[in-house]
Amino acid sequence: MTEAPQRDAAQRSAAQTEAAQRILQLRGELDEHNYRYYVLDEPSVPDAEYDRLFNELKALEAEHPELVSRDSPTQRVGGEALAAFGQVRHEVPMLSLGNAFEEQDLLDFDRRVREGLDLPGGDLFGDGALIDYSCEPKLDGLAVSLLYQDGRLVRGATRGDGSTGEDISSNVRTVRNIPLKLHGEDWPGVLEVRGEVFMSKAGFEALNARQLESGGKPFANPRNAAAGSLRQLDPKVTASRPLEFCCYGIGRVEGELPDSHIGILQALKRWGLPISPELKLAKGAEACLAYYRAIGEKRDALPYEIDGVVFKVDNLAFQRELGFRAREPRWAIAHKFPAREEVTELLDVEFQVGRTGAITPVARLKPVQVAGVTVSNATLHNMDEVARLGVMIGDSVIVRRAGDVIPQVLGVIAERRPADARAVQVPSQCPVCGSAVERTQLIKRSKGKESVSEGSIYRCVGRLACQAQLKQAIIHFVSRRAMDIDGLGDKIVEQLVDEGLVSSPADLYTLGFDQVVALDGFAEVSSNNLLAAIEASKRPTLARFIYALGIPDVGEETAKLLARALGSLQRIEQALPEVLTYLPDVGQEVAHEIHSFFQDGHNHEVIAQLLERGIDLQEEGGPHAEFAACASFAGFVDKLNISGIAATGAKNLADKAGSLEALIALSQDWLELSVMKGLNGRAKQALREFFAKPQNVERARAIEAQLREFGMHWHSEKKIVEGLPLAGQTWVLTGSLEVMSRDEAKVKLENLGAKVAGSVSAKTTCVVAGPGAGSKLAKASELGVKVLDEEAFLAELERLAG
Ligand code: IVH
Repeated sequence: MTEAPQRDAAQRSAAQTEAAQRILQLRGELDEHNYRYYVLDEPSVPDAEYDRLFNELKALEAEHPELVSRDSPTQRVGGEALAAFGQVRHEVPMLSLGNAFEEQDLLDFDRRVREGLDLPGGDLFGDGALIDYSCEPKLDGLAVSLLYQDGRLVRGATRGDGSTGEDISSNVRTVRNIPLKLHGEDWPGVLEVRGEVFMSKAGFEALNARQLESGGKPFANPRNAAAGSLRQLDPKVTASRPLEFCCYGIGRVEGELPDSHIGILQALKRWGLPISPELKLAKGAEACLAYYRAIGEKRDALPYEIDGVVFKVDNLAFQRELGFRAREPRWAIAHKFPAREEVTELLDVEFQVGRTGAITPVARLKPVQVAGVTVSNATLHNMDEVARLGVMIGDSVIVRRAGDVIPQVLGVIAERRPADARAVQVPSQCPVCGSAVERTQLIKRSKGKESVSEGSIYRCVGRLACQAQLKQAIIHFVSRRAMDIDGLGDKIVEQLVDEGLVSSPADLYTLGFDQVVALDGFAEVSSNNLLAAIEASKRPTLARFIYALGIPDVGEETAKLLARALGSLQRIEQALPEVLTYLPDVGQEVAHEIHSFFQDGHNHEVIAQLLERGIDLQEEGGPHAEFAACASFAGFVDKLNISGIAATGAKNLADKAGSLEALIALSQDWLELSVMKGLNGRAKQALREFFAKPQNVERARAIEAQLREFGMHWHSEKKIVEGLPLAGQTWVLTGSLEVMSRDEAKVKLENLGAKVAGSVSAKTTCVVAGPGAGSKLAKASELGVKVLDEEAFLAELERLAG
């Protein structure tokens, strides 16, 4: 009797040993992959393989919680929240660096180093001794100390005042590229590593986008974001932030280390700690300056923010000899880049009108030098941004200029707000044309519901009657990637508009020699050249033409996609929004923009004029097979946006019904619907209500008809046609039909359960033959197949429908 439990216990312990072994193996593999990914920057396996190993480990640890250890790669999610951070004393103080701003400051530093070491200076006969310097970028994040004991991460701390910092152990453990366990073996028993925790530019953008979406406050810059993320009492918050670590030195150490700074960093790298890929050795001050310039040129392209470079005497014996002055080492210096952020006064906010009428607030600033350039204007994007910044006219604002990017207002120094500061107000009339200014509405359509909210964009409603919009629209229309009219620069467009010669893009094609030659700067030859360029633009591809129209949200790629998929201007003009969303990357918003652009009477008129005045579109053809093949009936049902019916419900309905008409019939068949599986009661009710509204039935039929007209065929179409009047029959359409198109006739027949075939055989039930029918009609008579003309066909349809 006692044998069985013993056997059970033995089995259990064998299973546990096996799990323990596998867990160790998985951790080892994952640590190795992490090392290759984060430290060597040479990923060894695809992400999917990593995820598979990670998930296996997670599952095993969930099964055997007793085998979970603190330094397992799964333990980076962040533990319990703290009430307050504990304090950490830095046995080796965390120092700061002296700064060099000018090249001369660096040369002086190098001279002091050589003097301090009693090395000869440069003279007429040579450069003197060249010091070896380690060169690294100065990352813009915050300094942290990581303590490893016996190769395991036991503590993380902030710099604090340099002598005492905060204990952020739980938080640093969530930073993906900080090893929880050192790699290799020959590390010192006690090793305190120092470096910078920072956020990449991409990580910062992504975090801010997330913050804004969830209604949170965005961070002003990656540095603030990194600091705010690391100093969180709840480590789970830290874990959700894209933080990274880069190592630049050491603190307390018990054990052996190399005798140069670069040697130490290389050892740290072998032990799994990430160091800067830009680390270099420079011999002498001139080489340091060359490094400074090279990194300065790379600054914009680096994936993270830096505010300078750091030079350190590489030889540790020299470092010891030089020692410290106050709280700065004599052996290291930060050579700063010009600041990209400065403070200045916001003198006024003006509003500019863009191509689509959007009114953008622009900050007029008291001129200030930022990174070597005088800045007197900065973008404020939109009124949401103004509200977010809480900025008022008269405020002291922080302005940033990076690379070629338009200067931006980052924030306000609230304490310096003057008593007479004024709020920023959107004008009620367009500053250019005086038309009304309206706030755009954000319409979200989801599952049959439309929700309207206030957008952040204000628009002048004047459109092409507004000279600002007209000018921008024409500048866009003639641009190189649109109609490509050579010689029609911005200034000339402005003149044409100002003189009233052009009031829509179509008017460009009415310009004559006399009008052009009268413009500033035009003579006979240049006038003829411009007219020839206008003439030469008359045969654009469909894609260029669509792009040139300047439909909001339709860039070059979307224009190409529309042209390729739908093949003709007419189809693009008529496409229903639901049909447009079948195109890859066209969401509901863009689809509505396109649709309403072509619905607009004025736009319609301009397009008609362009065609009348000789625009001859190239590359028009049928809809592309790629588009035609991308539909499924389930997708179609989903796009009807019936509330409570998501993708799975739509799929189940599509499988059951197989066609729109059958679906409509199902929605009206209470009994059939109530026994249907795969759809809950609420969804069934919603389906019934949806098709009970004639406008929904009409809309669904219109969408379906258009899809078919555009050549779509349902992939998953299930031919449940039993019970339909033409079930089991095969029809053939030939010749031209007058009352309805062949495509329409095809849809009608299919909806009645018939198959529509392309050729006549003995199995054909009936041939519909219009004028011009040829061989198919002959074949039908030969085989004795029934033939109907259009009139008889229509009568038959009517009879069947009734
Ligand atoms: S060395 C004794 N190296 O700059 C030398 N610091 O003002 C201690 N920093 O608090 C610092 N990148 O946060 C060093 N490659 C780098 C650095 C770096 C950024 C920061 C660090 C420090 C501050 C010094």
